[in-house]
Amino acid sequence: MCGIVSVLTFEKEIIECLISSLERLEYRGYDSAGIAYIDENSKIERIRRVGKVAHLRQAVEKLNTNSHIGIGHTRWATHGKAIEKNAHPHIAGGVAIVHNGIIENFEQIKRELLNEGEVFESDSDSEVIAKLISYHIKTGLSFTEAMKTSMPRLKGTYAIAAIYEKQPNVLIGTKKGSPMAVGLSSDGRSIFIASDSVALSSLAGQITYLEDGDFVICLKEEEITYKILDSSFSEVNRSLILNNIAQNTVTKSGFADFMLKEIFEEPNTALETFNNFGSPIDLSQYKNISLIACGTSYYAGVLAKYWIEDLVGIHTDVEIASEFRYRNPVLSKSTLYIFISQSGETIDTLNALRNVKAQGLDTLSIVNVESSSIDREAKYKIKTSAGPEIGVASTKSFIAQALSLLLLFVDKNKIDIKEITHAMNEVISQYEKIKNVANKIKNSKSLLYIGRGTSYPIALEGALKAKELSYISAEGYPSGEIKHGPMALVDESIYSIILAPQDKYFEKTISNAQEILARNGRVLFITNEGVQLNFGQASYLYVPKIDPTAQPFVLTTAIHLLAYYIAKQKGLNVDQPRNLAKSVTVE
Ligand code: F6R
Repeated sequence: MCGIVSVLTFEKEIIECLISSLERLEYRGYDSAGIAYIDENSKIERIRRVGKVAHLRQAVEKLNTNSHIGIGHTRWATHGKAIEKNAHPHIAGGVAIVHNGIIENFEQIKRELLNEGEVFESDSDSEVIAKLISYHIKTGLSFTEAMKTSMPRLKGTYAIAAIYEKQPNVLIGTKKGSPMAVGLSSDGRSIFIASDSVALSSLAGQITYLEDGDFVICLKEEEITYKILDSSFSEVNRSLILNNIAQNTVTKSGFADFMLKEIFEEPNTALETFNNFGSPIDLSQYKNISLIACGTSYYAGVLAKYWIEDLVGIHTDVEIASEFRYRNPVLSKSTLYIFISQSGETIDTLNALRNVKAQGLDTLSIVNVESSSIDREAKYKIKTSAGPEIGVASTKSFIAQALSLLLLFVDKNKIDIKEITHAMNEVISQYEKIKNVANKIKNSKSLLYIGRGTSYPIALEGALKAKELSYISAEGYPSGEIKHGPMALVDESIYSIILAPQDKYFEKTISNAQEILARNGRVLFITNEGVQLNFGQASYLYVPKIDPTAQPFVLTTAIHLLAYYIAKQKGLNVDQPRNLAKSVTVE
């Protein structure tokens, strides 16, 4: 994970430029943040703070500098605790670097450098990069040559921006496995290197993306120039594209949190997805579908499997990307491989896509962030219409992913979007009731979400949202499976959330719920309006009954609101839950 940004410019406002970019990159991690710049005396200055970028912003508030070159980083800790000494930038011998990725052989490199008399300050894998570059400079290499010599030593993934105090007019970036965008300001007076185009949304008019092994060497002389070299150090052309990431800042628009705003936007997301959808592909050539993703995006895939096999009869597999990419899956030309990702940067999903592409097979991406790595690398593309999602937990993007998958396989005319959005809005209007139910649930030791058919993936999604936001251990299970083990957990300290829409599974699911009630388990039924259930000690939420195919959308809004209110009533930060990041760029 982690976000990096750097700037070389004729302008003076580099601090604000770095900090505002880091704020846009915070979705990649918020354990610590830091910047470094070369001051007018050619000395590196560094400011780092533990926690959010807001802490760093406070720390640099009164800072006045004439610097024209700087780097910045927001961290999701991998190696070493989230304490200041492990925060980036890392500095060695006048070289400062920021790094996104993981250096897998850092211990070996560290040992070698310790033997050479180098001293380390941090527990971070990234510090070896700065040490290695400065070590090579000490042996007589130039900054550029030292970068070139150091990189082949690194195993793992990296996107690195580096500056060197003896060459304050040079900014170098390089990458392998982690994304890196190079941006040019419209007036040509500034150049930027960052993790993505979002970081540069208000800064760069044009963007180019580096390929693995590339270096970008940026120079400030009479004017700002840059060249891109491939891993053999031959100059290459990488096409420039317009940076059309919206420049307007996303605000909470009066909502208490981004997450609440984004759940309230779910009906509109469904509508936009429906209106904007156009299939990029003729599906008749495929006999099988393989859906590959992580987390909530994976659950959108699990849901789609039910739809695709039931409604169009195409054999469908759903794969967790981190498993798929490392096992030896049997791939075939008659399969369409679909990669689902909100961020478009999830490293496991991206590498799974690359593995499939390397076999010359067809790939389709369903991605929310335009120009992200998965969006750029897939053969066929569907851009979801969720708009920017700021809350770390996916909410409205799940709706957009699931509906895009449904629309890919089912004729638009068969989907009553008005009915869906109306029902979702009705769920939202019950938020006070959901809040009250959440209050009953919030002190449970653990939560069990169960459902059958298309309610099962929603149970998985409900449990994931509950655990990541409220830190209550939660499991999602097919209702029919609970007596094969989980029933042993049931007592009065556990709340079971029963997803029981009035579909063909209804009676069976209710029987499963009764088995829980018979063992003193506490139960919340989420069922359809008009259903008569009368189990004295249970709680009930009623959602509108709509076409069974579309019912999961309505249940989703209910379980998202439920997870939101459980966490809120525990006083937790719902937008940035602990230990998480919105874009998972390390495996
Ligand atoms: C959970 C959540 C994560 C993501 C997962 C995949 O609320 O947000 O589980 O769904 O990290 O991320 P993307 O969709 O960006 O590939």
